[in-house]
Amino acid sequence: MKQRNALRPLLLVIITFIAVGILFYFVKEKGSFDFTGCVRNCLYQNSEISAEQRVDDLLKRMTLEEKIGQMALVEKNSIHDLDDVWRYGIGGILSGGGGKPPSNTPEGWLEMVNNFQSYSQRSRLKIPLLYGADGNHGHSNLIGATIFPHFIGLGATRDSKLVEQIGRITAAEMAATGIFWNFSPNLDIVTDIRWGRVYETFGSDTNLVSNLGEAYVKGAQSVFHDGKYAIATAKHYLGTGAMVWGSSGNPKFIIDQGTSQVDEQELRVKHLPPFKKAIQAGAQVVMVGLNSWNGGKMAANNYLVNEVLKKELGFNGIVVSDWYGVYEISPNKYESTIAAINAGIDMVMIPYEYKNFTEDLKKAVERGRVSEERIDDAVKRILTVKFKMGLFDHVLTNGEASSMVGTLENKKVAREAVRKSVVVLKNENILPIPKNATLAVAGSGAHNLGVQGGGWTVEWQGIDGNWIPGTTILQGILNSVSKKENVIFEEKGNFRAGTLADVGVAVVGEKPYSEGWGDKENPSLSEDDLKTIENLRRYSRKVLIIIISGRPLNIKNHSANWDGILAAWLPGTEGEGVADVLFGDFPFTGKLPLKWEIE
Ligand code: BGC
Ligand code: BGC
Repeated sequence: MKQRNALRPLLLVIITFIAVGILFYFVKEKGSFDFTGCVRNCLYQNSEISAEQRVDDLLKRMTLEEKIGQMALVEKNSIHDLDDVWRYGIGGILSGGGGKPPSNTPEGWLEMVNNFQSYSQRSRLKIPLLYGADGNHGHSNLIGATIFPHFIGLGATRDSKLVEQIGRITAAEMAATGIFWNFSPNLDIVTDIRWGRVYETFGSDTNLVSNLGEAYVKGAQSVFHDGKYAIATAKHYLGTGAMVWGSSGNPKFIIDQGTSQVDEQELRVKHLPPFKKAIQAGAQVVMVGLNSWNGGKMAANNYLVNEVLKKELGFNGIVVSDWYGVYEISPNKYESTIAAINAGIDMVMIPYEYKNFTEDLKKAVERGRVSEERIDDAVKRILTVKFKMGLFDHVLTNGEASSMVGTLENKKVAREAVRKSVVVLKNENILPIPKNATLAVAGSGAHNLGVQGGGWTVEWQGIDGNWIPGTTILQGILNSVSKKENVIFEEKGNFRAGTLADVGVAVVGEKPYSEGWGDKENPSLSEDDLKTIENLRRYSRKVLIIIISGRPLNIKNHSANWDGILAAWLPGTEGEGVADVLFGDFPFTGKLPLKWEIE
């Protein structure tokens, strides 16, 4: 008896130890003390019932914190502790421009996204993440992906079937690496070529942008991979293309993030139609721009977001804000958050301060500044899309990623897009070039994949030089001529004395840039490029200027004595497409997607 009493304290210690261990396990591994038994067999986990029923069931189980977490879209590098993914119940993670994994390979991406997803599964309700990225012209953060011409070149093709295919291939290459949410297509309508985002658009014509945007959405959302559908984003709502010179709210920029100085009538007639069409085509997400209109930031515009987009156009998908856009509404982050959510923003691309954001929004709901109905509506939209995509039923992505990325078949489509995008600006008996002509090739863009790619290629601002696989325009020319020996290349056009080629080809243009860094008062050729052309003239009977640029360049004072001028836009990795039309293998069919006066 005495002995048993002596054992009791020991037993107590052991039991306490085990109990603490179990609690610790639940908190650390499962993120909660959820003993409800609803780990695998809740109604919402049943893939046989409708998305609506599943959302209703899930929403009822969620706490306010869990709901608010769903509304957070966080930049991947700002999550320093991966446990925050389930702790905060984060709804979405994104890769910004250049937001690549440590190993920038298809497998590296897949591993990164799956890893984030697996942390989402440690949460009480196991809600999967939406992982998003900018596939502006292919899965272009990824080295080895098929890089298509930027949209301005696709605008020149005017080929909606082709654009649909490009939307599909881009989504498929992204899906292979675990990403089912593309922040594309861009539906902005250009009104000022000095803006650094001109090349991200299909041009200045509302009908053209509407038709190609619709085609892109259809293609992008037709992809089904490993149990999941991909989704597209119509951006940037609304009137971002109408921002005026000098109005930027960002001290480093001039137009970008500025004010759209147009009246409602013009917004509706010129800028709204592409969004209507994209929504009719089923676009699941609309991204609200960083511009201002009518005295305030778009992300706080109740009339345009709640009334026009959601009620009038009947958009029932997710309205997401753009990069840091909500915090630009006013200097007070708490008030900005309230304004945005009440205006109808469902998911906030915060993108960094998720702790602050979730605390603020919770406080706002508790104080009655944001209604619970508004939160429920936002979360319903987010969850509905996630269910419809199949995310809950196939959280992780399997499959051999690299065999689906940058395939020959995909590159063929990119090459087709390049040749259809080239526009003849001038042709005085120089085109097409006979394949047996002697050629002197020069220029900063002749052998430079980084220049061909432009911004949003591996890095946000792009990369100058040959760092990615692909074919340069020079290589394309060499592959097309009847004798390689007939082609000489010197970047600056300094050929040997006595050289006289039949045709001099200068490939010149803009260095990569993106967003406001490309705002430029007078887009034109650099002094270096002009000097190269001058040099080349001395060594050739005729000269052809191929311009690689994201927008029309001012060449008025120089073009008179050039025999031919081509606009090749930002063609991407398949430079052979330029040679395809240069030597007459295919006819020139590209048409200007916006005005370009050359003389
Ligand atoms: C751009 C968006 C882009 C987002 C994420 C923003 O700065 O305006 O077009 O989708 O960043 O990279
Ligand atoms: C990100 C881009 C984003 C931009 C906005 C960059 O740091 O990489 O994705 O669009 O910031 O300013």
